[in-house]
Amino acid sequence: MVAIDANVLRLHGMPEKRALFEVPPGEARKTVETWRALLDACVEAGLDRDSILVAVGGGVTLDLAGFAAAAYLRGIRWVAVPTTLLAQVDAAWGGKTGVDHPRGKNLIGAFHSPAALLVDPAYLATLSEREVCGGLAEVVKHGIIGDASLLDRAGRDAPASLVADAAAVKRAIVARDPFERGERTKLNLGHTLGHALERASDFALSHGEAVAVGLRAACRIAEGHCGFRDRARVEEALDRCGLPKRFAADPARLRDALRLDKKRASGRIRWILPVAVGDVRLFDDVPARLSDEALRETAGA
Ligand SMILES: NC(=O)c1ccc[n+]([C@@H]2O[C@H](COP(=O)([O-])OP(=O)(O)OC[C@H]3O[C@@H](n4cnc5c(N)ncnc54)[C@H](O)[C@@H]3O)[C@@H](O)[C@H]2O)c1
Ligand SMILES: [Zn+2]
Repeated sequence: MVAIDANVLRLHGMPEKRALFEVPPGEARKTVETWRALLDACVEAGLDRDSILVAVGGGVTLDLAGFAAAAYLRGIRWVAVPTTLLAQVDAAWGGKTGVDHPRGKNLIGAFHSPAALLVDPAYLATLSEREVCGGLAEVVKHGIIGDASLLDRAGRDAPASLVADAAAVKRAIVARDPFERGERTKLNLGHTLGHALERASDFALSHGEAVAVGLRAACRIAEGHCGFRDRARVEEALDRCGLPKRFAADPARLRDALRLDKKRASGRIRWILPVAVGDVRLFDDVPARLSDEALRETAGA
């Protein structure tokens, strides 16, 4: 059975006729309802324990279909075919699957790694420029975390040529810490503020754009807090990728959104900061003066 993003089906077609579930595009449909409809389709098609669910699409489709595969008959195999840059370098790897809840993103889900991943650069040809830019934000993130060369190549080399190296940074980390007991939290670099901005902008900012602003803030804080020296190099990479410098969020909404994260981390905002390119750590002792200044500078708060 194939679960495929409706836009990808229209643009790229399907090589063979299979049982097909068209995933309605967009984050707004990454819900329990769509997941349930996909499970209905699995039941309808009579999938058994030996069946394989193939997911073709961006992060939304893979998260949704992976989670259906995790639940159907208590778990069947699935294959991920990521079709966006973001999914090829990030979302497809690491076995996290799930759907959103009205109260928050990715609140419901399971760890269920695909049996195989097929990364075909041909899919990238039909992405909008904005989608490519969004994916490049995660490439820059992986550059800061573990592969400095990506900082110089992002926005310069063809996106397809960055996929293997950018994905390798995440693959190495999740191989050591598959269930996010420690090191894997590094991959959330730029995402504390990024998620808050996404929410405070009512998703006017794409995920990648919000992460880019979050990366700029993290580098700024890191410069003051732990002697990070490569802020200019990161900024240059983000500029080259056409990613925004700042986003003026409504300060009250931004603080609310950040507080939600804070509650989860038992009282403090924990910042993931680069000490150097290739050395990213978790800090819970960032002085409010530094983080407030970074928020004012990048998010108008
Ligand atoms: N599981 C994880 O570890 C993980 C990690 C990062 C992000 N994510 C999730 O991934 C999602 C974001 O992924 P995304 O950016 O791929 O979004 P997406 O799946 O919504 O795809 C973005 C848009 O691109 C379209 N599209 C997909 N492939 C295309 C192609 N080849 N050509 C033209 N259009 C195409 C889609 O129809 C959609 O409109 C979020 O829900 C996020 O939570 C998950
Ligand atoms: Zn991300």
